[in-house]
Amino acid sequence: MKIDIVSVFPEYFEALNVGLFGKAIEHGLLDVKTHDLRDWTHDVHHSVDDTPVGGGAGMVMKPEVWAECLDDLLELEPVEIADTNDVADSSKQSESDDDSENPDLSEANPAKPILIFPNPSAPLFTQRDATELSRADHLLFGCGRYEGYDARIPRYYRAQGVDVREYSIGDYVLNGGEVAVSVMLEAITRLMPGFMGNPDSIVEESYTGQNALLEHYQYTKPAIWRGMGVPDVLTSGDHGNVNRFRRDEAIAHTDRLRPDLIAQLDCKSLDKADRKTLMSLGWEVSGSHPRKLND
Ligand code: ADE
Repeated sequence: MKIDIVSVFPEYFEALNVGLFGKAIEHGLLDVKTHDLRDWTHDVHHSVDDTPVGGGAGMVMKPEVWAECLDDLLELEPVEIADTNDVADSSKQSESDDDSENPDLSEANPAKPILIFPNPSAPLFTQRDATELSRADHLLFGCGRYEGYDARIPRYYRAQGVDVREYSIGDYVLNGGEVAVSVMLEAITRLMPGFMGNPDSIVEESYTGQNALLEHYQYTKPAIWRGMGVPDVLTSGDHGNVNRFRRDEAIAHTDRLRPDLIAQLDCKSLDKADRKTLMSLGWEVSGSHPRKLND
């Protein structure tokens, strides 16, 4: 996979050379290039931002600098596009807080670069997005700073036929997109075939697959540590019972911490024992998804 990252702090990504990510670069699975956005500026101060149109605090990243950089990396010629940017248009944008602006990779040409901007006001980046993007051939990340980037940048490249994604990594605001890009990169690349030493460890993880549950608790040796034991069933050697125990623990754990994930399960995929466990926790398991009683 080819990965380009544009940032005003490209040195931030030197940390990528360690661990499994570093190994994947060494083995040629990943071809990572970082670019300094200021290389596309022309003024003595190398400025990449300006004050917000309409007033307000902070600075906004300029479209001209970003576009010169992205045109180069995407090998596109600059064009004028018919875009009114009227009030109706921008209200349409703010209404869509779902993933509707982020297309599915299956609809795109996987060989074309996908342009990704981290943005705290975008749809949430999920394991599903990571899985989908792990199949792409080329990702180009643009790290915003300050109060963000001019909203015309993603609109312009979408109008040019580029697959543009904007993702938030959580409901909090960071100083810039660098940390968010690192998070997304790690989530995406570890799903690539050949990245993990033991690919089985991915299969049972939390948030994996259509029937995502939080993972059951994990224990290692010693069986008794500072007076604390592990559940007997785990040392019984009965794999059927171990699997059932772990599944029930995952269900109970998810019910307690993330009931929203239970409510998204597909009832058809639940076995009899799953249903029994869910019902004992106060869920009605009929129809397409479980429903918490007395909610
Ligand atoms: N930039 C600043 N905060 C962010 C967030 N929560 N997610 C993605 N990008 C960001």
